[in-house]
Amino acid sequence: MTHSEALPQIAALDALDRAHLIHPVAPWRMHEARGPNILTGAQGIWLTDGRGHQLLDAFAGLWCVNVGYGQESVVQAAAEQMRKLPYATGYFHFSSEPAIRLADKLVQITPASLQHVYLTLGGSESIDAAVRFIVQYYNAIGKPGKKHFIALERGYHGSSSTGAGLTALPVFHRGFDLPLPTQHYIPSPNPYRAANPGDDQAIIDASVAALKAKVAELGADSVAAFFCEPIQGSGGVIVPPQGWLKAMREAARALDILFVVDEVITGFGRTGPMFACDAEGVDPDLMTVAKGLTSGYVPMGATLMSDKVYAAIADGAPKGAPIGHGATYSAHPVSAAVALEVLRLYEEGVLVNGQSVAPVFAQGLDDLMAHPLVGDSRHRGLLGALELVSNKASKAGFDAALDLPGRMAATSYRNGIVFRAFGDNILGFAPALTFTESDFGLMFERLKRTLDDVLAAPEVRAALKD
Ligand SMILES: Cc1ncc(COP(=O)(O)O)c(C=O)c1O
Repeated sequence: MTHSEALPQIAALDALDRAHLIHPVAPWRMHEARGPNILTGAQGIWLTDGRGHQLLDAFAGLWCVNVGYGQESVVQAAAEQMRKLPYATGYFHFSSEPAIRLADKLVQITPASLQHVYLTLGGSESIDAAVRFIVQYYNAIGKPGKKHFIALERGYHGSSSTGAGLTALPVFHRGFDLPLPTQHYIPSPNPYRAANPGDDQAIIDASVAALKAKVAELGADSVAAFFCEPIQGSGGVIVPPQGWLKAMREAARALDILFVVDEVITGFGRTGPMFACDAEGVDPDLMTVAKGLTSGYVPMGATLMSDKVYAAIADGAPKGAPIGHGATYSAHPVSAAVALEVLRLYEEGVLVNGQSVAPVFAQGLDDLMAHPLVGDSRHRGLLGALELVSNKASKAGFDAALDLPGRMAATSYRNGIVFRAFGDNILGFAPALTFTESDFGLMFERLKRTLDDVLAAPEVRAALKD
């Protein structure tokens, strides 16, 4: 079918979408008026929409398609598993080979502290499971008072009914009665907006001091855990100084609270090594992963825990009593088979490719610092951002009425490139780890054109203050 033949179908789908499909994290009424961008195909780094428009995906779907689109061996792994055993419950002691092999593989490749794996349907469920297991853990060890959770401002930990309160972004709270009284935040380690930019140690020390102060305020016997992303993704790709994660880990240990690292975005080579924890030798008590685990080809996540946490839960329950946490699709064999194949691809070249092109990505972002709109460029591995400002010296943002993020999103779409235009004028990038140097050439050409086109609007130009 040609694309012009497809158009009437797309128009019908457009109407049905507006009428019936509720979109995640979207303004519902605005979506009805605007309509969807319907994607119909993908190959390599390219997406195609229903009108045949080709888009270079500089965001790996939603920071997940780390191996790129069209990996035939992944499709094959799913098809073979569907033919052989499309479903197996993990309840009642049932199991399946892909789930067992995946649990073993994850224990091998994650930090040595993590020995047990609960396989979930994605990141939000991994966070939710972590919270439930932590509550169970403290009750089991006879410290039921430890019920408070601390996370970072601007952090994102999914949108489950509890996890959305660890997320510290206002739209996830408004109207949802969150955060809970047991959920608290400390400031982000944000080098661009720090009091003394460039003083990495001061940023690390401030975070450690804030965690200590928050624990002291709540009472040491009341705090269960500290949750953090090694690099804050949805909060605007906030890249803390090297050494920050390790310092926070040590602080949590000294404070006798569990240290939970959310590697849903940073895992599986996104920042260079397999996990961001690896770069600093960090050994968390629990870790959550998803996205890159299956590269988005099918849903799956995982909650990993230390033997200490596992044993306390296992032995704390009355003999023979089940631990009441699970879902029909926990440890789904098709998702596990896909994850195993995706992990094979990472280990057989994709991770190394991501590491080798990271300097090209970094240079491309840094070069855009010369653009009149760009105030900051930050990155680690293939995770990065540009922050747009109206005044480079004062770092002032833009009047919301200008809707710079909306302009960036619409213009980039026209120019055939997809990235994330965050509400506060931050542009997020997470290209697939399969990008080549020439892919980056094309990506930065389109990105620069997009910035130039947005700047060409007289009202944007007028908003710039020298
Ligand atoms: C750090 C982090 N944690 C948790 C989640 C939630 O994952 P999911 O969207 O798969 O539920 C996300 C999703 O973006 C994330 O970035």
